[in-house]
Amino acid sequence: MNYEPVLTARIGVVDPACLHDYEAHGGFQALARAVELGPDRTVAQVEAAKLLGRGGAAFPAGIKWRAVHNAEGPKFVVANADESEPGTFKDRILMEKDPYALIEAVILAGYATGAGKGFIYVRGEYPRAYQRLRQAVARCYEAGYLGKDILGSGHEFHLELRRGAGAYICGEETALFESIEGKRGYPRLKPPFPTEAGLFGRPTLINNVESLVSVLPIVLRGPDWFNSIGPANSPGPKLYSLSGRVRKPGLVEAPMGVTLRELIEAHGGGVSGSGEFQAALVGGAAGTFLGPDQLDTPLDFHSLAKMGAALGSGAVIVFDTSVDMMQVLERIAAFFAHESCGKCYPCQLGTMRQRDIIQRMVAGQGRPGDLQLLRDIGQTMRDASICGLGQTASSAILSAFELQLT
Ligand SMILES: Cc1cc2nc3c(=O)[nH]c(=O)nc-3n(C[C@H](O)[C@H](O)[C@H](O)COP(=O)(O)O)c2cc1C
Ligand code: SF4
Repeated sequence: MNYEPVLTARIGVVDPACLHDYEAHGGFQALARAVELGPDRTVAQVEAAKLLGRGGAAFPAGIKWRAVHNAEGPKFVVANADESEPGTFKDRILMEKDPYALIEAVILAGYATGAGKGFIYVRGEYPRAYQRLRQAVARCYEAGYLGKDILGSGHEFHLELRRGAGAYICGEETALFESIEGKRGYPRLKPPFPTEAGLFGRPTLINNVESLVSVLPIVLRGPDWFNSIGPANSPGPKLYSLSGRVRKPGLVEAPMGVTLRELIEAHGGGVSGSGEFQAALVGGAAGTFLGPDQLDTPLDFHSLAKMGAALGSGAVIVFDTSVDMMQVLERIAAFFAHESCGKCYPCQLGTMRQRDIIQRMVAGQGRPGDLQLLRDIGQTMRDASICGLGQTASSAILSAFELQLT
């Protein structure tokens, strides 16, 4: 456990309202280093770090950075700060406690990709994060970190904030673009991908808050440092949102691949409630349950994918043996039925049927064949839904039945 936090190093140390304090704690040094390196070599650092996106899909960040760098302008950078995955709160803490870091990272991304404008799309239910970012953006304009000729680079970059309005689907990248464009947040069909035709139809780099903030130490310390942490194919520091029945819930920064057991015992102070572990939901509502036999699973993208699970955004919700898991499943099913945007039928109907069946089971009116029906609905949603919401709406529920948690 000799790990020194990097992404959260300034949290609780700096005054989030003070630009000078940020500068005094290493702030804007990564941007200065990027300007020394130039855009091409900065992108090369992100590629060499093998940073996998922290927003849920684990897509290699370097591929997106290079594609947007190579594209013709005008182009955009978007920070996905919608953070609506149940159980996930890492981006909120980064934005509330160290808002300048996200702003620096977005400016750096704009410089490296050649984008002239950036947006931070902040979850509507995060008023404090929004206020702190708003104040920080204004200070960055006054100090010359935003606007013309940033740090003498000749690059002009502008940054605006947008607030969500409480829709989970608006965290999906293309729905988020629609929302910024002032339209209803419906996902678009892909391809074209955002790097070709994203916001306002222009090449767009969209990354999660934690992905962007991870680029700052990559540029400052180099990709070899990043690769020296965690497993070779999923490297780097990772933020885990640990909640539920643990004695010390909260944000944990650990090397990628910390085991579930270590997360719960060493960081979370052990299981609370009955004190006996029943299961953990890893990856939020779109994730999967892990049971007592899986406590030694390394929580990294590849180890979890190999067992048919997903790390997603790094949410870990712990349940002790006193929890009625059917009620948990009912809540998850209701969540998806409520949040389905309705653009495609497999998800619109599938999430409602799934909820109805689970509600029936909870009311003691389950029928023979219900489980098979849930599996069929799940497969249809996975195979035929337009976006990740429908594709993952059954994973947690089916994994709970698989583990016989109910
Ligand atoms: C329903 C749904 C909700 C999502 N919500 C978020 C979110 O709140 N924050 C986020 O970063 N990514 C979210 N994503 C993933 C984004 O579509 C996209 O993959 C991500 O912003 C890319 O950033 P990354 O490569 O840095 O992970 C969501 C995806 C889906 C399907
Ligand atoms: S899968 Fe669900 S959320 Fe996604 S487009 Fe279809 S209806 Fe909307």
